[in-house]
Amino acid sequence: MLVTYRSPQGEERLWVPDDTFPRSGRDAWRKREQVGAVLEAVCCKVRRDGLVVDACCGKGALTTALALAFPTCDVLGFDGVGFDRAWRSGRRYLRDVGLGNLRFEVMDLHSLVEDPWSLVPEEPVLVVGLHPCGTLSDRVLRLAVETDADVVLVVPCCYGRASPRVLREELGVRERVDVLKRALKEAEGSWEAQLLVCRWRASYLEEHGYSVRVGLLFDEDVSGRRGFLIGFS
Ligand SMILES: C[S@@+](CC[C@H](N)C(=O)[O-])C[C@H]1O[C@@H](n2cnc3c(N)ncnc32)[C@H](O)[C@@H]1O
Repeated sequence: MLVTYRSPQGEERLWVPDDTFPRSGRDAWRKREQVGAVLEAVCCKVRRDGLVVDACCGKGALTTALALAFPTCDVLGFDGVGFDRAWRSGRRYLRDVGLGNLRFEVMDLHSLVEDPWSLVPEEPVLVVGLHPCGTLSDRVLRLAVETDADVVLVVPCCYGRASPRVLREELGVRERVDVLKRALKEAEGSWEAQLLVCRWRASYLEEHGYSVRVGLLFDEDVSGRRGFLIGFS
């Protein structure tokens, strides 16, 4: 699958193995567009010599693309379940093109935030979460803050499954529970509500010294979950 994105040098083109994408043609096309948009958002913001972490990486299309786009970084993708065939395919392709900078691990993000250094041995130059469901988005932000990541980008998913308690108690969001519940429910079908929730999540990063930008990363046909936040420490 060919992934393209714009960098300050012009159009970049990366070939990423099909196995790391969803099987259905339409979903694969959508993931390809999402991966390109994430690369475009981070390509000139990330130091070229450190650890890049793709949290809740799924089959690893984005992880593999990151390893190709940042060949001098170590790239780690982890997920709660193993996608052995897809991950093998990504790693094999990287080896074929002479790169050994891609690693996948099975790890539960909820337990990882309690002991982040068990998997993330150094301060990452980038932590990314593309469509972590519900509360996982909050935990990706916590992982980035607790490991002092230089840059963090999250495109949240499944807003209705996020927890007002986690938003209040772990991220320090001050809105009332009923207000949070209503906004999370609305965010399932409204990009305006997605931006509102992203701004609340952004305030957690700001409290920890990040400057943050919130916006829409994709067109609607690429994904209904298109609100995102990017923070720079
Ligand atoms: C919507 S998918 C997104 C996958 C990938 N980032 C992408 O964009 O294709 C959410 C992913 O979160 C993973 N996940 C669910 N619970 C998790 C947990 N506790 N720890 C780590 N990953 C988890 C799922 O297995 C799934 O691959």
